[in-house]
Amino acid sequence: MSQSSKPLIYLDNAATSWPKPPEVAEAMDKCLKEAAANPGRGSHAMAVRSSRILFEARKRLAGLFRIANPNDIAFTLNTTHALNMAIQGYLQPGDHVIATSLEHNSIRRPLEALKRTRGIEVTYVPTDARGRLDLNRVEAAIHSRTRLLAVTHSSNLLGSILPVKEIGTLARSKGVKFLVDAAQSAGVLAIDAEAMGIDLLAFPGHKGLMGPQGTGGLYIHPELELEPLMYGGTGSKSESPEQPNVRPDRYEAGTPNTVGIAGLSAGVDFVKRETVEAIHARERKLTGQLMTGLLDIPGVEVLGPEPGEERTAIVSFVMEGVDPSETAFVLDQQFGIAVRSGFHCTPLGHESAGTTETGAVRASPGYFTSESEIVSFIEAVREIGKALRV
Ligand code: ALA
Repeated sequence: MSQSSKPLIYLDNAATSWPKPPEVAEAMDKCLKEAAANPGRGSHAMAVRSSRILFEARKRLAGLFRIANPNDIAFTLNTTHALNMAIQGYLQPGDHVIATSLEHNSIRRPLEALKRTRGIEVTYVPTDARGRLDLNRVEAAIHSRTRLLAVTHSSNLLGSILPVKEIGTLARSKGVKFLVDAAQSAGVLAIDAEAMGIDLLAFPGHKGLMGPQGTGGLYIHPELELEPLMYGGTGSKSESPEQPNVRPDRYEAGTPNTVGIAGLSAGVDFVKRETVEAIHARERKLTGQLMTGLLDIPGVEVLGPEPGEERTAIVSFVMEGVDPSETAFVLDQQFGIAVRSGFHCTPLGHESAGTTETGAVRASPGYFTSESEIVSFIEAVREIGKALRV
């Protein structure tokens, strides 16, 4: 193996997308220079400009997710924040929740905490090793105290895509609310909140939507009320000691990340111009190339859906006789290639995939990844396999 002097090859887009479209940084720079006053807290011209940035971002997001009223979207720091808002704001003592074995700790940990603190009951419906969910098992788990189905749209370990429309239809027919974790799907898979029967949609700004870290959001169906996760100043009804009922203020206490949201807004605009379909098609092409190359390397097993089956741009793999963390370390140090390795914040997902003992290497290309970068990555993994296999 040779020390690489090549530029960074970034294959960790499932954690945070990079690079961003140039207009994201431009919008943040402009906002910081011209509109970074406190939105909703004053009537002066700069405060109005900063309020407009939030308004425009909400409108763009509502358009993307087919949400009728942009004010039903609350900005959050990230998906974890949004999921906590949904889970902690909705569930009552004694409620039953159904999730899947593919949930990230951003769903699992709040649910486990509420088991202790509110006595809720949780059923994790297991998927098969490829990340496929049997809807009949979900339906069979519903009982009289079931109030929420909380499901990831796409596994952050396996890349498998769960049938959210069918789950939403099931949830509606049973009078159960439906929470979707769109951490790996927002911006790369079509999401229609109404048509998919989604009551709560948690999404990140810093992944497929191309925004900066510190941005995300939660869509809350207009007929659903949550207890806020945080209370405090909103700039509205300031004379009242009670959190206002008006949206989005009810769920947005404290000064927001206006500069970050300006970047997110530019990212969403980029996604809408390119189209989600074109982004997914590009990522699917790269993912296919990635899987074909990996499967050609002796001893490599690719996790998740079979080649040719739908998935998001997540390709996790194990290489017989080679430690995943060591693979990622060498990829970084010797080849300048960034991937994620080890355990991916989804213990039950690793159980489904059979990688509880080993963990896995996860390569996640993005819209700006090139075919030649994939070729370099495959070559690097091949070399590592030869050099490190025990
Ligand atoms: N949830 C992100 C990931 O899967 C951070 O890497």
